[in-house]
Order: sequence, then structure tokens, then C-alpha cells
Amino acid sequence: MTVQKKLIAGNWKMNMLHMDAAALAREVVAGADKAPCDLLLCPPSTLISWVAETASGSVVAVGGQDCHEADSGAYTGDVSATMVRDAGASHVILGHSERRHGLGETDERVRAKTEAAHGAGLVAIVCIGETEEQRDAGETLNVLSSQLDGSLPTGDNGFAVNGKDTVIAYEPVWAIGTGRTPTVDEVQAAHGHIRAHLTASLGEQAEDIRILYGGSMKPENAADLLAIENVDGGLIGGASLSADSFLAIADAAPA
Ligand code: PGA
Repeated sequence: MTVQKKLIAGNWKMNMLHMDAAALAREVVAGADKAPCDLLLCPPSTLISWVAETASGSVVAVGGQDCHEADSGAYTGDVSATMVRDAGASHVILGHSERRHGLGETDERVRAKTEAAHGAGLVAIVCIGETEEQRDAGETLNVLSSQLDGSLPTGDNGFAVNGKDTVIAYEPVWAIGTGRTPTVDEVQAAHGHIRAHLTASLGEQAEDIRILYGGSMKPENAADLLAIENVDGGLIGGASLSADSFLAIADAAPA
């Protein structure tokens, strides 16, 4: 059972220069009032402050795509959670599979980054998801449990997260950018499992944590995916690079 509006988040990845981003962000902001859901744009770091300025005063929130776990220091090329916040973001994507698999980011590191994000007042969007080999081996649900256990901050009584500071994104690695999506039953099983795992630690409060689906979500399949129980929104890559398709996905969200 979900209690809040769906969240439709665009992950622009390493795309967009200022001119194109300007048009895209303006179009999303212009269409945002009609959307039945919450909207979030996650541009590359270079564009966060500019997109935040464009979205200021609108219902569109802005997020980063990663942050370092340290607050400052000798980490050439990185940005801290405080910097992401300072640039105007309210959210940050962490542990995306392109960082886990492309850059060797571990659960431990994702947890440290999540703690840093919370410390900076950012909502952490923690990504988890199985590879195709893991799915074929029947390991999907175990992988999801172990990624949650390793990536989320914990306290004395289990997970130290809540619906205000954390969003989970379930993104099967094999569905990202491939045009392939899991079946409705597979998505339902994964999201139900994530909810149950959170509930085992957090009790009823787990209901407040949004669980997004990500991986080849498009206007054509959004309504079906967003209607699945425990799917509280979407994390959209390719289809977020056009305002028309991003807003069409948002329009498909049940209010
Ligand atoms: P995709 O990417 O929508 O292009 O599959 C989703 C993501 O990686 O967040």
C-alpha cells in the first residue's frame, strides 16, 4: 500500500550541455503543474545549479547523480554531498549500477555515501538490482536483500532510514538502457520483497519509503509498471532526455 504520490525521476546521466538542458528543464517545468506525481530532474553536476535555478518556485525538484562520502578534502574530480546540496539539489542518486559495475562501487561505499547525503540534508536514492547472471541463477531476491543490508545506514535497531530521507530504486542491471523490462510478476515480486525486507526492520514506517522501478521505462510501458503494487515511481534514463517522453511517463502515473 502506498500512501504518497508517485515520484518520477529523470537520470540524465552524462548527457546534456547547457543549451539543450536549458530547453529540456524549461519544458519539464512548464508541464509539471499538470503532472499527477512528484517530479525530479538529476542532471550532471555541471548543470545542477542551473537546473535548480530554472526549477526554483516550481514543483520540480533537482538531484545529483552521485556524491563522495567525505565532506571535503583531496579527492580530485569528486563532489561532496554538501556541495550537491549547496548547488541547489534536494536529492542524490547513489549506488547506480553504472557506478557499482563500471567503477567498482561497493555496498559499503554506497552506505557511507548515503550517510553523507543524510548528513547534508539530501534525500538519498539508493539503487539496487541484480545482473542477468544473478537472475538466471535464481539469486535475485537474495541479491536485493544483501544490497539493502550493505548499502543502507543502520543503527542499534536495524535500518536507520525513513521515508523522508531515503528512496530505494530497483533497477535490474540487464534492463538498464536495453529496452528490456522484467514482467509485471517479476517487478511485483522484487518490489514486494524489498518492501518486506524493509518492513522486517522498520515495521510500519517502511510503508513511507518509496520504491522506484528503473530500467527501460518509457511512455509505452509506464502505465503498466506504475500500476504494480509497491511501485512508487520510476527512475528514468533514456526517456528523460526528452520533455515529451518524460512528461508522458509522469502523466501515466496513477494519482
Ligand atoms: P534507462 O536507465 O531508463 O535508460 O534504462 C535507467 C537508469 O539507469 O536509471
